[in-house]
Amino acid sequence: MPKKLTRDEKYELYLGSVQNPEADINFINREFKKLYGKKPLVLREDFCGTGSMACAWVEQSKEHKAHGIDLDMEPISYGVENHLFKLKEEEQTRMEYILGNVMSSYNFKADVIVAFNFSYFLFKKRTDLVKYFTQVRKHLKKDGAFFIDLFGGTETRKPLEESVKHKTHTYYWDCNSYNPLTAECKYYIHFKKGTTKFEKVFTYEWRMWDARELLDILQDAGFGSTHIYWEGVDKEGLGNGVFYRSTKAEENCESWVTYICATP
Ligand SMILES: C[S@@+](CC[C@H](N)C(=O)[O-])C[C@H]1O[C@@H](n2cnc3c(N)ncnc32)[C@H](O)[C@@H]1O
Repeated sequence: MPKKLTRDEKYELYLGSVQNPEADINFINREFKKLYGKKPLVLREDFCGTGSMACAWVEQSKEHKAHGIDLDMEPISYGVENHLFKLKEEEQTRMEYILGNVMSSYNFKADVIVAFNFSYFLFKKRTDLVKYFTQVRKHLKKDGAFFIDLFGGTETRKPLEESVKHKTHTYYWDCNSYNPLTAECKYYIHFKKGTTKFEKVFTYEWRMWDARELLDILQDAGFGSTHIYWEGVDKEGLGNGVFYRSTKAEENCESWVTYICATP
């Protein structure tokens, strides 16, 4: 029998490989200030998984509130035990996990709604993505902003496994298949700890949406304005983590990740 990771090991490896909530929060704060000259206070994190970003959000000040929405109790239970319970008691009162669907209606509006780690790629039909983006727009305050991330590049639309070595483990991002006729793809995340490789710890069946389509779909969902970003580069030509508004990519890179911001 192949060894299996426990729930905690699985999310520890995931969080240690793919998420950087502080960088996302800094980017959102900066862009929101540019749009409205103020700080965003209420966050809704869609497809929140463990809710690491929502929990980091409420640490910013006593005025900050966050709601994390996910359908699956497994990542939420990990998040409650490992992110929420690590916050101060007062901070915990400003963070709410919602076991629910991002397509449902909720009785609150947010300054910022995020759908990160490409989670909305699970909507394969344009009509479904229009419906989701429309639901998001309806749940934003007038001075609100919706942020998504996206990835692409010449190397991303074909089977390819990339790996990144971390101190405690190796992370594998495995494009198992890509269908150029439908843009449907299957991705796996594997991890290696010591000499043991844990295969297919996460599986994603997605449609690869491209940037231009997303801007059009956001417009069709009623968003008033959209901004797309590109990442600056350091001396070696590698991404420097500084994203700036631009509709022109400096280079048709093999692989890139960026953000779109849409306002009501
Ligand atoms: C790729 S994971 C991303 C988790 C998190 N955003 C992160 O960055 O780690 C996608 C998450 O979306 C959740 N999910 C899928 N469909 C959903 C839906 N319709 N409503 C709410 N959550 C959903 C899954 O349970 C899963 O936890």
